[in-house]
Amino acid sequence: MKDAAELFRRISHFIDASASGFLQLLVAAAKPSTLNRILNCPTYPAPAGTRGLTVAVEDLRDVMRRPDIHLPTFFAWLYASVTSLQDRKQAGQFFTAHEIAEWSLKRAKPKQYDIICDAGAGTAVFADAIVRGRIGVQSYVGIENDPILALCAAHVLDSINAPKEFRIWYTNFLTLDATAFRRQGMMPPTFIVANPPFVRSHRLSGRDQIRTALKSSFGIMLSSLSGSIGYFLTRAAELAESARSAEPRKKLKPRLLFLLPREARGAAHVQRLRNDLQIMYGWDCREYQIPNSQTGIERHSSNALALLFVFERNNVSRLTPAHEVNHIRRVQDVLEIKRGISTGCNEFFLLTEEDARRRKISKKWLRKVLPTRIHIPTTHFSLEDWESLRDSGLRCWLLALPNRDLDQFEIPVQEYLKEGLRRGLHATPTAKRLKTWFSLPLPTEAPDTFVTYFFRGVPRFIRNDAQVFHLTNILGGRFVSRDLDQKRKELIIDSLNKQAVAWMESEAGREYRDGLRKIEPREMSRLPIDVALFELACSEGHEARAASALLFE
Ligand SMILES: C[S@@+](CC[C@H](N)C(=O)[O-])C[C@H]1O[C@@H](n2cnc3c(N)ncnc32)[C@H](O)[C@@H]1O
Repeated sequence: MKDAAELFRRISHFIDASASGFLQLLVAAAKPSTLNRILNCPTYPAPAGTRGLTVAVEDLRDVMRRPDIHLPTFFAWLYASVTSLQDRKQAGQFFTAHEIAEWSLKRAKPKQYDIICDAGAGTAVFADAIVRGRIGVQSYVGIENDPILALCAAHVLDSINAPKEFRIWYTNFLTLDATAFRRQGMMPPTFIVANPPFVRSHRLSGRDQIRTALKSSFGIMLSSLSGSIGYFLTRAAELAESARSAEPRKKLKPRLLFLLPREARGAAHVQRLRNDLQIMYGWDCREYQIPNSQTGIERHSSNALALLFVFERNNVSRLTPAHEVNHIRRVQDVLEIKRGISTGCNEFFLLTEEDARRRKISKKWLRKVLPTRIHIPTTHFSLEDWESLRDSGLRCWLLALPNRDLDQFEIPVQEYLKEGLRRGLHATPTAKRLKTWFSLPLPTEAPDTFVTYFFRGVPRFIRNDAQVFHLTNILGGRFVSRDLDQKRKELIIDSLNKQAVAWMESEAGREYRDGLRKIEPREMSRLPIDVALFELACSEGHEARAASALLFE
């Protein structure tokens, strides 16, 4: 009987360091059941009848039948023989030793109900450990975006007689969401295992798109320095979150099992991500030292896994109020963010004190408004501030007319409106959306706070002590809880301003030229906030447990 080394020598002689030779062999050795294991199966080239192919197929089949040969490792060796170290490094393709795969699974203990997803499955070392370790799970899907590795993994599943619910999905893990799983007839996974590719941020293709998608679907903004590990972890947490919300009554405890290099612990962006996952979604993380630092099948430093992170999603008790079950703390839980009033023509609808007096427009038709193009240096805007702007001749009055016929107003208003008609203001796009062109829809109350959404540096929250309305140049925010005392409002605004610094570290919003940034109201509403801030803003019933200085410092 040939030993593993002899079989490896014979097969690699046939392959001759060529990726297409290896693929040809894999395809020739594949049975229909092998290819059927692959979802979204690539079109593999039909094998040509090259000399030596039949013998090589026999050898490979021999390997696949042999219980003494660890097949994922054997395939990993073959793969390494047809690809350069440089290419594998760039694609993050290093493989886990089977002892480490088994050791890791023992730490995280998959359960009978678990739907396993192996993110970046490589040669399916984890599937092998699950099947050989007789760990009962509901199903397994290995995600792999390399066509050769996807076929190796399918061979492994077939050779170890994995249950038919064990599949390989040839796709990019980072683009998957719960809908993609459902489209393939699968539920989103409850247990995600990964030795993710370790690729630095600048080498990640499609990085910006994925980052934006994760931000909008999951509320987590990855640092621009984040490499592939951060993306894999966030995507995994998002999928597990979908599994959890799809089956709320089962009280699933999703888990993520991530094998990472030591660098992952020190990097500030990984730490922040861990923190965000904890604060926003209740993911607790246990960290284990991997017993042997050279854990991979090659003794290369890029392959030196050092840590195992087991993330476990807290199960929130039934007694927890509904708004906390989700564990998502976002701006929208504290403040309702609204755009300002759009007039269609500020020059007409905004008046100075002098305009109003000269035109004899009664104050009953005017509302105090924050004038445009001003700078507010502090975190609150008082009535005295507004009065001083008004006295300095700025347009601080907004024309607020009810919806009625023009001739039902007193003469000075009629004349002013006729002037507007002559200027064609009844035909502006804003006016056309209104029932009556001059009757602007106003909110019943002024906002509690202003929020700068076009800014340099960081966005600012400014308490609207003056209780004036705002226009489209600034956003407004209303406290969700209506019974907050003044002290608490001050603490919340302070905390939001501190939180804003953290948002900008993760580059929230969009950059325009010269460092000018913009955060649209929808995005602003979904930005994460600290749990303590949420509790502070929640209701009077809660003690103000954290002073703002404690929240973010
Ligand atoms: C570090 S290797 C680990 C392989 C295997 N899980 C193991 O532990 O031996 C990472 C794997 O992820 C795959 N991969 C990289 N980026 C991927 C992506 N965006 N989607 C799916 N697989 C990916 C690589 O081809 C590689 O096989």
